[in-house]
Formats: sequence, structure tokens, C-alpha cells
Amino acid sequence: MNGKVMVGYMSQTGNTKKVAEAIYETIQGEKTIANLNQLENLEGYDIAFIGYPIVQEGPPSKAVNFLAEHGQGKKIALFVTHGAGLSLPPLQDWLQKCRDAAGNSELLGVFNCQGEVSQKVRDMMASSDVPKLQMYAKMAYLADGQPDAENLERARVFAQGIMEGI
Ligand SMILES: Cc1cc2nc3c(=O)[nH]c(=O)nc-3n(C[C@H](O)[C@H](O)[C@H](O)COP(=O)(O)O)c2cc1C
Repeated sequence: MNGKVMVGYMSQTGNTKKVAEAIYETIQGEKTIANLNQLENLEGYDIAFIGYPIVQEGPPSKAVNFLAEHGQGKKIALFVTHGAGLSLPPLQDWLQKCRDAAGNSELLGVFNCQGEVSQKVRDMMASSDVPKLQMYAKMAYLADGQPDAENLERARVFAQGIMEGI
């Protein structure tokens, strides 16, 4: 028996929510799925999958604060979506920031995949005078259609692995 599982997520345009739902479907037993905005704490849950998009090259402050306040000593698995391709070098730094932000929990694993970048963000980056952001705007199309069926399947396999490992 695994105990109670929470799948908590943040998602502005639905990408991370899709991953959250794929993870949720996979989990057997007592489970709850909730938007982090509606989740007060993790009391009563033995393990929590916590997901969010990368914003401005790192985890969103809301997720960082939530993990700092409620993650201590908890078994946590992270799932993260981002516009960047998996081979974009800075992605590893952003994911490291995610791991660091879960530092006081018992971190069981981190899943990440691409998520389609909204038009609003593309326009914002394209009109920026920061060369790096202009480059990200040009590359954004590489995440079109993500998370796709293959990435959602990867998320299910990740969740299964986490649940089997505890
Ligand atoms: C304000 C903002 C900033 C973003 N910054 C980044 C970034 O620094 N790197 C990146 O790879 N993607 C970035 N993205 C893209 C999102 O991480 C990506 O589209 C994600 O899948 C959105 O997830 P959601 O639909 O669950 O909100 C940003 C998106 C927004 C809205």
C-alpha cells in the first residue's frame, strides 16, 4: 500500500495540467488532484507529485514558496514543463533550480518535458531587446503540440516508477 497521493500542479495554458492528469490516471489507490492555488498544504498525504511550468528561467515563486512551506520531510516528485528543447544547455540550470527549491523534502525524482509556448509569451520574447529572449522566440515553434502523446506516456512511466520505488 502506498498511502495517500496528491498530484498538485500550476498551469496557465494547460500543458502542465495535461501532465498532471496523465500522472494522476496512473496512480492506484487513494489519490487527489488539485491546482496549487487551491491546495492549502500537504497534510495527510504521504507522497506528492508537484508540477509547474518553468517561468523566467526557473521554478515559479508560488511553487518555490509552497515547497518551502509544506514540502519539508515529505516525499516529493516534481514534474516540470518548459518551452525549451531538451538539449538547450541552460535547461539543466533551470532544472537544478527546481531540485534546489525542493531541497528540504525527500525528492524522489524530477520529470520534465516540453510544453507549447503561448503566443503571448512568444510575442513578448520576440519584441524584447534581449538577444537571448529573441532566440527563445525563434525556437519556440519546436515545442508546438507539446506535451504530445509520447511525453504523456513518459510521464505515466515516470509516475509508475516513483510509485513502485516507494
Ligand atoms: C511568463 C512565462 C515565462 C516563461 N519562461 C520560460 C523560460 O524561461 N524557459 C522555458 O523553457 N519556457 C518558458 N516559458 C514557457 C512555459 O514554461 C511552457 O510553455 C509551459 O509548458 C507552460 O505550461 P502551462 O501551460 O502549464 O502554463 C514561459 C512561459 C511564461 C508564461
